[in-house]
Amino acid sequence: MKVAVYNLRPFDEKEWFEKYGEELGLTLVTCPDAPSLANAALAEGCDCVDIITSPIDRELMAAFAACGVKYLVTRTIGYDHIDLAAAKEFGIHVGNAPYGPNGVADYAVMLILMSIRRMKRIMQRTNMQDYTLCGIQGKELKDMTVGVIGTGRIGRTLIRDLSGFGCRILAHDLYESEEVRQYAEYVPLETIWEQADVITLHTPLTNDNFHLINADTIARMKDGVVIVNTARGGLIDSQALIAAVESGKVGAAGLDVVEKEFGLYYYDHKNDILDNRELAILRSFPNVTVSHHMAFYTDNEVKTVVRDSLSSCRLFMEGKENPWEVV
Ligand code: NAI
Repeated sequence: MKVAVYNLRPFDEKEWFEKYGEELGLTLVTCPDAPSLANAALAEGCDCVDIITSPIDRELMAAFAACGVKYLVTRTIGYDHIDLAAAKEFGIHVGNAPYGPNGVADYAVMLILMSIRRMKRIMQRTNMQDYTLCGIQGKELKDMTVGVIGTGRIGRTLIRDLSGFGCRILAHDLYESEEVRQYAEYVPLETIWEQADVITLHTPLTNDNFHLINADTIARMKDGVVIVNTARGGLIDSQALIAAVESGKVGAAGLDVVEKEFGLYYYDHKNDILDNRELAILRSFPNVTVSHHMAFYTDNEVKTVVRDSLSSCRLFMEGKENPWEVV
């Protein structure tokens, strides 16, 4: 059984691919680059393709199908980058790798605390030996209302973590969870917009919630609201967020994901002129913390994701029940 692995990182993933590939009896064809029409032929004769967040559109799906690929697995939880309709059209099944939720939940707590304690400003000042206090006074989480949108695995874990801080927690999801009710009150989105001091996003990106945070919803939020996004960039209209930071309506933001991040994140662009103005502006604000889609990135996650993505290929090819298959 052959698997084509794209975006293989030599410094952290390689050893795990070698270990689990051997243990599972898989032959791996590896490539450090994102899949594209130019390198799709690497998957010739492979049963499965293993990718990360790079977009797989209809054309690329067709190219993989022509190579004989039957299963595409993404080493991520989200799979909004894959054209699922095209996968169905070409008879390719799709799987994801839902590793443990703690890494992202920890990271969201960190971005919330960094935002309310003005940590970006503090670090910039400390680096310049500016040890003054004016302008860097923070707030305490216990005095705040946090709105958590999406109470799946990550949202639920975050809510449990946040309950230790003594803040009021509002939650919203299409489906409610009993466990969450121990710590938070389920409310309509409108209540979150009106009452939350901090809003943190934990839903997948779908056609229904693209630009969930936009000029209209921001206008309904509290003045000085803090927005944290460790889910997907497309949930927030970047232009609207920029306008709201400029006007002071949004008091701070912590963004692990942004719109149009593909092709930028995970590559060294220090000598390049980039064409993502929104990212450049957001990075420039002293009250907006930006990181490059790495909330997931822990030692535990890398190992688990590599293992599960390959196990999923094996189960699929053996026709066994596959808990990672999404369509
Ligand atoms: P999950 O599938 O366990 O939970 C997602 C929750 O969102 C579900 O409860 C679902 O009902 C809810 N939901 C879906 N659409 C909704 C909508 N329109 N309105 C309200 N709720 C909605 O997923 P999990 O593991 O908690 O991950 C959440 C998201 O976090 C992923 O889809 C992914 O986009 C993102 N993520 C980001 C990472 C990073 O490194 N920054 C790493 C891992 C995940």
